[in-house]
Amino acid sequence: MKEQLEAIRKGALESIGGAVDAAHLESLRVKYLGKKGELTAVLKQMGGLSAELRPVIGQLANEVRASVEKAIEAQAAVVSERALAARLEAETLDVTIPGRKAAQGHKHPMYAVLDDIKEIFIGMGFEIFDGPEIEQAEYNFTKLNAPENHPSRDWTDTFYLTEDSSVLLRSQTSPVQIRAMETHGVPIRMISPGRVYRKDEVDATHSPMFHQVEGLVVDKGITMADLKGTLNTIIREIYGPDTQTRFRPHHFPFTEPSCEMDIQCHKCGGTGCSTCKGEGWIELLGAGMVHPKVLRNCGVDPEEYSGFAFGFGLDRLALGQYKISDMRLIFENDIRFLEQF
Ligand code: DAH
Repeated sequence: MKEQLEAIRKGALESIGGAVDAAHLESLRVKYLGKKGELTAVLKQMGGLSAELRPVIGQLANEVRASVEKAIEAQAAVVSERALAARLEAETLDVTIPGRKAAQGHKHPMYAVLDDIKEIFIGMGFEIFDGPEIEQAEYNFTKLNAPENHPSRDWTDTFYLTEDSSVLLRSQTSPVQIRAMETHGVPIRMISPGRVYRKDEVDATHSPMFHQVEGLVVDKGITMADLKGTLNTIIREIYGPDTQTRFRPHHFPFTEPSCEMDIQCHKCGGTGCSTCKGEGWIELLGAGMVHPKVLRNCGVDPEEYSGFAFGFGLDRLALGQYKISDMRLIFENDIRFLEQF
């Protein structure tokens, strides 16, 4: 039995020393020290020993048990240290690898142009007003003095939202003039940029949704000279100090007199080219002196106050500024296109 015990000790210490992980070690503990283990099996035979031999073998068995337990403990420390080292190795982060750069967006070219325009107007004492895109016909047409049979009221031109033609997608930013005079009162100097909607076929220069900037100035003693002076100043801020302009008579229901303003073609300088369709001039905006009826519709006395108003298309201005040939491009939101600006 003595040899048996020594053999167990030898075998146990050897295999424990070679245990590679905690599970392996646990299986060895069961193998040698467990209830059905080798050491227990030997001890079970002790009943058959003589009285002299029993304490000797008993002591040896205890020693073997103790040395096996100690070896397991020592190896457990080795194994767990090795496991930690392996884990640290596996989870190493290389902090020197360059990070992935987050893509950064930027302002849409049209809004960049709008920001410049706002700056110029704010510098001249204008306030920025906002108005609803879903508008009442009352504001989009009636209070702006558009007669009941005006062609722009037609269902083929305007997106109506109710059968009775009372609610629509605004076809112009001009209703914000009315709202501004009603809420803010006069005197007033304001612009109102925003989306407008018309039943236009889509092509290179038309879209059913586009952007306008409306302007309104009402005060005592405002004349056509103020209109021309203000618009000339602004156009020269945008297009340069030598930009030539001209005013042509026109008709709008909400202004009297009304005009359109052209600028000399910035591409050919007035000799005629494809940009100005050979005209030498480019139509830029509609304007006029606010019709007395419109002032009265907003509770303003036209005997006391006068004013001018104007409206222009923002999209075409941006197209011109960035030399973009097709309006559809600026609404498609194709990143490959937008990234160029
Ligand atoms: N609302 C006009 C349009 O959509 C533009 C316009 C013309 C606005 C003359 C005005 C104005 O305020 O006075 O064509």
